[in-house]
Amino acid sequence: MPMAVIVVVMRLHVVDHPLVAHKLSTLRDERTDSPTFRRLTDELVTLLAYEATRDVRTETVEITTPVAVTRGTRLSYPRPLVVPILRAGLGMLDGMTRLLPTAEVGFLGMVRNEETLEASTYATRMPDDLSGRQVYVLDPMLATGGTLVAAIRMLIDRGATDVTAVVLLASPEGVAVMERELAGQPVTVVTAAVDERLNEHGYIVPGLGDAGDRLYGTA
Ligand code: URA
Repeated sequence: MPMAVIVVVMRLHVVDHPLVAHKLSTLRDERTDSPTFRRLTDELVTLLAYEATRDVRTETVEITTPVAVTRGTRLSYPRPLVVPILRAGLGMLDGMTRLLPTAEVGFLGMVRNEETLEASTYATRMPDDLSGRQVYVLDPMLATGGTLVAAIRMLIDRGATDVTAVVLLASPEGVAVMERELAGQPVTVVTAAVDERLNEHGYIVPGLGDAGDRLYGTA
């Protein structure tokens, strides 16, 4: 009998919801100021987090209500790890941990060379051993895909068995790079939208501009 070959394909989940569309549209608007942009990012991430955590590990526990003993569900161990990619991913951290209160938080500092568009790591603060861990990586923009591919490779090298990237916006080019470079890996991308394209500067079109600058009001 021929052996079955299981091909693992990256999962892409575009969250289709009127509240997500409304918040994203306001984020895109160039007139939205930094305080509003920060608040809407926080709210949008919480909505995306609801979908991103659909397969978070849980266990069944016994609960005593004021009326009876019953069975309930609780987030289980090992604790999920949330990793914002500095700087712009920091603006997504509270929105994510609000729904995942048991999560541990790691940090990854990555910067993209604006000429070559290559990503390099300048800071890492997370456990060396991620064996069996579910990891949620936060980066607002999946543009060229270089930063997220490098970040996810590092997490898988440390043993992560289930990695979900939560992004506000993705480009079709970035999604294709992730699908090619991370083929066969346990990776999911959750986003509010996949836009038209990348421009020659590596920005998503129509996009929302530079997410870090818009969150923090600095260049
Ligand atoms: N990073 C951003 O902040 N915006 C883009 O459009 C692309 C990368």
